[in-house]
Amino acid sequence: YWDMKDFVDKSIKGIKEQIGNGKAICALSGGVDSSVAAVLVHEAIGDNLTCVFVDHGLLRKNEFEEVESFFREKYNMNLITVDAKDRFLNKLKGVTDPEKKRKIIGEEFIRVFEEEQSKLNDIDYLVQGTIYPDVIESGGDENAVVKSHHNVGGLPEDVNFELVEPLRQLFKDEVREVGTILGIPEEAVNRQPFPGPGLGVRVLGEITEEKLEIVREADYVFRDEIKKAGLHKEIWQYFAILPNIKSVGVYEGKRTYNYTIGLRAVYSIDGMTAQWAKIPLEVLEKISNRIVNEVDHVNRVVYDITSKPPSTIEWE
Ligand code: XMP
Repeated sequence: YWDMKDFVDKSIKGIKEQIGNGKAICALSGGVDSSVAAVLVHEAIGDNLTCVFVDHGLLRKNEFEEVESFFREKYNMNLITVDAKDRFLNKLKGVTDPEKKRKIIGEEFIRVFEEEQSKLNDIDYLVQGTIYPDVIESGGDENAVVKSHHNVGGLPEDVNFELVEPLRQLFKDEVREVGTILGIPEEAVNRQPFPGPGLGVRVLGEITEEKLEIVREADYVFRDEIKKAGLHKEIWQYFAILPNIKSVGVYEGKRTYNYTIGLRAVYSIDGMTAQWAKIPLEVLEKISNRIVNEVDHVNRVVYDITSKPPSTIEWE
């Protein structure tokens, strides 16, 4: 599509045709893709769309509240919020394999949706914010599977919804353009991508509440300082990771044995390739100082200086 306005018009028309007077449910993840998909479908079918926002306990700091108020107040959408934190954490207990984690999170999402759907009447359509790179990396074509991307849904086979995936042909930058055309505020449209499995793939290895809290707080500091340094527009994605290692440090003359935080920041256009971001050293220094001072159980901060390929953007 050389003209995204044309894409939007055709897409709204297409969605109207596909869904007709039917009812759809949409999984909001808080990310750009699912948000744009939801607003696009909302344009097409209005109140016949119900959005479900699940708090799986793997969200960033303040994210639940921000997303909730955005969709309720700005778009006046039918929005159901579900607190499923305990449920997800229980399912993930003892699981260390990244692909298993993705699978569990994806499947649990679908279960939560099905439960919400069954409380509503006559829902036949499931809206998903799948974009082109997800299709490719999930092996949707002949390419090898890198990671099974779960965009709120590695959809189990026995599910009884028809899928609506209006962004399936688009790259990330095009999704943002569509969002802008639909009147989504710049801040939300340019919000950095956030994976469906959330912090679940940023706590490496087994996920615990304590580890989630550590990575969440470190991530919050990192984002805050990137914004203060005015780098949030040029860096495509930036976040904290909690590798599954502890190392020795020293604090007030005493030995400590605590977690390492990894910082990841990349320049990219569509997430398919990425270059590590050249954050000024003074900024990195400030971030590191703040993290070790403000986040409990952390005594070391490292910065990831690899590009994709050969790394991926996320560490799992
Ligand atoms: P990778 O790590 O594969 O990430 O280089 C490329 C982009 O995709 C995001 N990502 C995901 N998004 N579900 C998602 O919705 C996933 O399972 C997932 N894994 C990675 C990642 O944040 C980056 O923007």
